[in-house]
Amino acid sequence: MERLIIRGGNRLCGTVKISGAKNAVLPVIAATLLGQDRETCLDEVPNLDDVRTISELLRSLGVTVRHEPEHNKLFVDATTIENITAPYDLVRRMRASFLIMGPLLARLGRAKISLPGGCAIGTRPIDLHLKGLEALGAKISIGHGYIEATTPDGLKGAQIYLDFPSVGATENILMAASMAEGQTVIENPAQEPEIVDLANYLNLMGAKIRGAGTNVIKVDGAKKLIARDYTIIPDRIEAGTYMIAAAMTRGDVYIANAISEHLKPVIAKLKEAGVTVIEDVDGIRVVCDRRVRAVDIKTLPYPGFPTDMQAQFMAMLTVAEGTSVVTETVFENRFMHVDELRRMGARIKIDGRTSVVEGQTRLTGCQVKATDLRAGAAIVLAALVAEGETQVAYIHHIDRGYDNLVQKLVSIGADIKRVDC
Ligand code: EPU
Repeated sequence: MERLIIRGGNRLCGTVKISGAKNAVLPVIAATLLGQDRETCLDEVPNLDDVRTISELLRSLGVTVRHEPEHNKLFVDATTIENITAPYDLVRRMRASFLIMGPLLARLGRAKISLPGGCAIGTRPIDLHLKGLEALGAKISIGHGYIEATTPDGLKGAQIYLDFPSVGATENILMAASMAEGQTVIENPAQEPEIVDLANYLNLMGAKIRGAGTNVIKVDGAKKLIARDYTIIPDRIEAGTYMIAAAMTRGDVYIANAISEHLKPVIAKLKEAGVTVIEDVDGIRVVCDRRVRAVDIKTLPYPGFPTDMQAQFMAMLTVAEGTSVVTETVFENRFMHVDELRRMGARIKIDGRTSVVEGQTRLTGCQVKATDLRAGAAIVLAALVAEGETQVAYIHHIDRGYDNLVQKLVSIGADIKRVDC
């Protein structure tokens, strides 16, 4: 089993370049299924296990996918799609597999996708995806562990109100509505930058989407979408993770490629904690020369504080001066990192969706495990400041979402290596 071995105590300094966004590239790859007439070339594709999984999924549909990780490129030829089934094995590995439902319905009028099942960070139902697709005319049946959808009368534009601004449901509805007959209005959609990126890509292919990034999105369906090349936006969560690494280690790191507009709540909270954050058009510089101060955070849909940064921020708060309150409102079970941080000496109490973090002057290295992607990132961050050596197991979770983590951290001065033991 591969592990990360980290020796804490190094101050991180230098420049780290952010890769394309995992949560933008996955829906965009799903959307390539809508593109006809030619091959699509996606640029700034991060080298991640999740990208390999969705590529495998597209190949299982009979689509040609070529990944050139050394050039950050992915080529997809979806001129013909031979199969409409997403098997359990792939959906189990990555819930985002469900994002092919909308495109398959729009393109072929049929899709059969394994039920995603549970996941580490909460129950994560798909009711909002299904409600939206049904409003567009899909007929849905569930049986033998699969969801089957058909569009006997084609997809028709509709008025859809989302009870919660689900990112995945908004994406699935956007992709389906792009080829539905007439106008679709999505009220209370997710407003994340990844939604805007998907809408920009769909519009480039010929879709007519207005309002992505606001609380109402209007889509006028197009008869056909043409495959187009596209460049993925930088990963705001990867950027935020390195910003915290710089702050925790009292370092000075320039996060090249980061878009500060996408990171407003993280920047605001870092400043509140006493960290210097300097924004420019090409990136963000984070400088810290003192122990950070305790701050309270509460996760919310965008533009609120991102749930995908909660674990990493909590790692920083474990060594802050004072006591912080961390409230998770997006997922019901996203405190898996707490037990691991406690093993390293952190003092955290959980009460339902709230954690109280009492900042310590020191953490100590030990054997810990990554329980999910962001929990894994949080313990790596804690290990960077812990005394002695930390061994992190189950690092396949981290490989799902961090491109070249070890090399990037080493390049700014961290003592971290990957070993097979
Ligand atoms: N929800 C429902 N019904 C639905 C869909 C969602 O109740 O039909 C609930 C979920 O149970 C959850 C909340 O709504 O409590 C948010 O879920 P959402 O659908 O917004 O999340 P997602 O699309 O499944 C994406 C990201 C996650 C990120 C969330 C929230 C991708 C591939 N994944 O998931 O990323 O945490 O949005 O921002 O875009 C990560 O990168 O570590 C990660 C988990």
